[in-house]
Amino acid sequence: MFPWALRHLPGPHQEIFRYQEALQGFIRHEIIRYKLRTPEAPKNFISCYLTQITKAMDDPVSTFNEENLIQVVIDLFLGGIDTTATTLHWALIYMVQHRAVQEKVQQELDTVLGTAPVVCYEDRERLPYTRAVLHEVQRLSSVVAVGAVRKCVTSTRVHGYYISKGTIILPNLASVLYDPEFWETPRQFNPSHFLDKDGNFVVNEAFLPFSAGHRVCPGDQLARMELFLMFATLLRTFQFQLQDGSQGLRLEYIFGGTLQPQPQEICAVPRLSSPSPGPREPV
Ligand code: HEM
Repeated sequence: MFPWALRHLPGPHQEIFRYQEALQGFIRHEIIRYKLRTPEAPKNFISCYLTQITKAMDDPVSTFNEENLIQVVIDLFLGGIDTTATTLHWALIYMVQHRAVQEKVQQELDTVLGTAPVVCYEDRERLPYTRAVLHEVQRLSSVVAVGAVRKCVTSTRVHGYYISKGTIILPNLASVLYDPEFWETPRQFNPSHFLDKDGNFVVNEAFLPFSAGHRVCPGDQLARMELFLMFATLLRTFQFQLQDGSQGLRLEYIFGGTLQPQPQEICAVPRLSSPSPGPREPV
């Protein structure tokens, strides 16, 4: 209700503000480094943004300034690291839990990619099962179960409910990802949610792990690319399984900024057909 009050209340959360200041200082330092460089064609996000600040200097309503640049860089790192890594953790856990699914993905990868040295993002069109499995991982793990906190900019009505300007909104994305009207087995891992009867990949309009609308995740495409390339490469190279004598998988999540899996050991055993076999590694 009063997010600004947190700054003034004592408690362990004050540590977050200290880290935030350290992070801001680090990014400010990076910006100064770019500004001191001899002018060259903009190469990365910071240099492009700095160019934009200069271009928009005479625009009185421009939001391009260094304070915003710092915050945007922080947002990109915060939004982009934990989400993707956590989704991949869940992917490996589900592959261990559903051995037959793991084998079917590997079979598809072997058949379609053959001895190709690397997986490319374009390959997803020829890998409908792998793609469906990854979508199902994102649906069931629902890592951002509650989307970012938003504030209503104007009074409105949604499904008959009146929401006044200034109301703080928490979008419940999990409610869509588990909606029984859209998913045959909402609480079970089921790649068929994304396959038609002939095994072709199909989209489902309730697949909204990145949310929707004006403030949809801006890293959506990058995340899809990263997840596909890493998941396909990992499954092509390793067989994922529990260690001998393991107590079994721990499937309950830990609630934080994202829904994270419990810490646990899974073995990555090089596959005989993999392009670069290495030693047996716990992950
Ligand atoms: C599996 C991976 C990811 C998931 C599930 C995810 C999900 C989300 C969701 C649900 C939101 C809130 C959208 C809303 O409020 O309507 C969001 C916002 C955001 N995401 Fe992602 N995200 C992922 C990866 C990434 C990546 C790779 C980046 C950047 C490199 C990124 C950057 C951001 C940023 C900056 C925002 C805030 C946008 C704003 O405030 O307008 N995300 N993400």
